[in-house]
Amino acid sequence: MKIDCITIFPEMFAPMKNSIMGRAQAKGLFEFNTVYLRDFAINAYGQVDDVPYGGEPGMVLRPEPLAKAIRSTGVKEDGGKVIYLTADGVPFTHKIAKELSQENHLVLVCGHYKGIDDRIRQTEVDMEISIGDFVVSGGELPAMLVTDAVVRLLDGALGHKESGETDSFAQGVLGWPVYTRPEEFEGKKVPEVLLSGHHKNISEWRRQESLKRTQERRPDIFKNLEINTTFGDK
Ligand SMILES: C[S@@+](CC[C@H](N)C(=O)[O-])C[C@H]1O[C@@H](n2cnc3c(N)ncnc32)[C@H](O)[C@@H]1O
Repeated sequence: MKIDCITIFPEMFAPMKNSIMGRAQAKGLFEFNTVYLRDFAINAYGQVDDVPYGGEPGMVLRPEPLAKAIRSTGVKEDGGKVIYLTADGVPFTHKIAKELSQENHLVLVCGHYKGIDDRIRQTEVDMEISIGDFVVSGGELPAMLVTDAVVRLLDGALGHKESGETDSFAQGVLGWPVYTRPEEFEGKKVPEVLLSGHHKNISEWRRQESLKRTQERRPDIFKNLEINTTFGDK
């Protein structure tokens, strides 16, 4: 899989070299590139933005550099998807991440200032994704977040494949509480069942804890739940 991010701040993507994202690139599971929008500027000053028509404060990214930058990636020829990160897009979920992990080429368009000229959204963009009901200053953090959520679903990206399969949302519910050594910390003990070595009981405890968490924290998910998860059973 190839992921290209169109941005005016390519240096913001430095974290993509670390941890699971870095290892997935080193293993050749995905190729990550930034496309510097100013390389497609309308003049020698590197201009890529302009004042909004209708008059309001802030600047808007112009359509010509964006169209050229998107087309330079070859995404259409590859049969991939162009995604604009935007607060008024579809809320990002595990289900969308899973669908995107099947694509061979994604182009993530990072807006800035007031956003991008709407004509690009109408003609070049296949999908618009929001990372939540709030506004951040640019599309770079949202693009990294989407990339991370998608790449960790690629085969081989995680050290243990099952680890991703038992994370929150992967089976439709929130994850269960996890513990490590020591057995007792500041008077609080690890639940007895986890020390028992009894796999069936551990599995049942996880199931109950997962359901309890989902019911308490995400009643919206709980009420539509189909209880068909394995909760880490082998
Ligand atoms: C300051 S925001 C523009 C906000 C825009 N005027 C609006 O009302 O939605 C600049 C850029 O940050 C990105 N952005 C901001 N909030 C986002 C969110 N919740 N999800 C995804 N991208 C977001 C978008 O790429 C956007 O073009």
